[in-house]
Amino acid sequence: MRVLHVAAEVFPLVKTGGLADVVAALPVALAGQGADVRLLLPGYPAVMDSVQGSRTVIDIGACFGALRVRLLLARMPGSKLPVYVVDAPYYYRRGGSPYQDSRGEEWPDNLQRFALLGWLAAHLAAEDADPDWAPDIVHAHDWHAAMACAYIAEHPPTPAATVFTVHNLAYQGLFPMHDWSSLGLATRLMSPAGLEFHGQLSFMKAGLKFADHITTVSPNYAREIATHEFGCGLDGVIRDRGAAVTGVLNGIDDEVWNPATDPAIAERYDAERPSGKRSCRLALQSELGLHADDAALLVTVVSRLTAQKGLDLVLAALPALLQAGVQLAVQGTGEPALEAAFLMAMRSHPGRVHVHMGYDEARAHRLVAGADAIAVPSRFEPCGLTQLYGLRYGTLPIVRRVGGLADTVTDASPKTLAEGTATGFSFDAATPAAFEKAVKRAVELRQDAGAWGALMKSAMAQRFSWQGPAQAYLDLYGAALMARQAR
Ligand code: ADP
Ligand code: GLC
Repeated sequence: MRVLHVAAEVFPLVKTGGLADVVAALPVALAGQGADVRLLLPGYPAVMDSVQGSRTVIDIGACFGALRVRLLLARMPGSKLPVYVVDAPYYYRRGGSPYQDSRGEEWPDNLQRFALLGWLAAHLAAEDADPDWAPDIVHAHDWHAAMACAYIAEHPPTPAATVFTVHNLAYQGLFPMHDWSSLGLATRLMSPAGLEFHGQLSFMKAGLKFADHITTVSPNYAREIATHEFGCGLDGVIRDRGAAVTGVLNGIDDEVWNPATDPAIAERYDAERPSGKRSCRLALQSELGLHADDAALLVTVVSRLTAQKGLDLVLAALPALLQAGVQLAVQGTGEPALEAAFLMAMRSHPGRVHVHMGYDEARAHRLVAGADAIAVPSRFEPCGLTQLYGLRYGTLPIVRRVGGLADTVTDASPKTLAEGTATGFSFDAATPAAFEKAVKRAVELRQDAGAWGALMKSAMAQRFSWQGPAQAYLDLYGAALMARQAR
């Protein structure tokens, strides 16, 4: 089976969040199970500079308002994974993030930048971009790649089936309707039955309406997005797709996130020999200037600082938590108000709170390895990866019971502790009080070294490898392809 993954990010070349981790690991896992997998990415500077052995597949010339567009074929650095790169210097060779300029403003030509990505995926599927390879399945990730599904549906005959994965329904790729003509799609689709969403043009809808199958990144989020509370205005569209929407829980790259081999941490450890975690904790306290307090519950947060992540609950509960003996180590970037509030907390509580505003992969590993617990109090969370990293490193997750957090963490109740199934701490209400209570339960449990050690052990025994999810995607690809051929 030939599978083309279309995405706007891939670790380690371009990453703003968990999407990049998934796009790096899932294709490799699929290839490991025999699929012939390729990636399609925009040619940002970091991609152009890093991919290896690049050659031109087709020189398209002027299109989508750019003077020169070429499709290149290369390999991901240090890997055999083939990657198509859209070389369109006018659209992609710039600084900033994939979506925003350095001041945090959305790029004004995002419509053209990501429509071009989808359009090229459709040409690969129609077998007229690369004479040597065409996909059976086009797997598009998030709104950035969603237009692939509309172009493929609108320009038959294409034998390929499409799968669209929603990593986060809150980011929808909305554009003014007057830009419609740039897309080259039939005006018939300029309606709520097509891509219109309350007077705007929605790339997310292109995926939700036109993909043969839709997945999201946890079974619980798949149920949630069909409700008014979590549907971001698209719950009706999602309910209309019925059984075509399913949840496949993300895995983690257990070579990148493995405390037994992690080169970034002070001492390696695993469930059988957990003593190295103590060295990681001491090294982290010393690195961050936190008191070498053995009794403290050292809680970390590694996150985008956005409303989604519920970090205002952490700030509001902080005074009470510090009183209860908590230390807090935060690393993140995002909304200026949250950044300022966390920096203020650090200034007010030297030795007990440390905050690093920035993005740093190696530091994230040291935080996850050195902390006792990792807090993910999200308002919504499609899957969440940091709680999975926490489980793997025996750093117990303290999570709100939503989305993938509910699917992956088993709360430590007297019953689950007795059964040995507990892996962390969960709470329901999105309130500082509920978060505070969950953290205080962790503080209390940590006073019983035996119970805490057993909890760490069952957390570390959890396996979230990509093998199971890759098999689930392969089954789903097979079914989508059969359904497509039957039409
Ligand atoms: P989301 O994709 O919504 O941001 P996830 O939990 O799925 O949430 O993934 C976040 C990813 O980004 C994880 O790999 C996490 O370690 C990483 N990350 C987030 N913020 C930072 C940061 N400031 N420094 C390093 N890594 C970060
Ligand atoms: C999104 C979600 C996150 C998920 C990630 C990878 O960014 O916010 O919950 O883990 O995608 O699927």
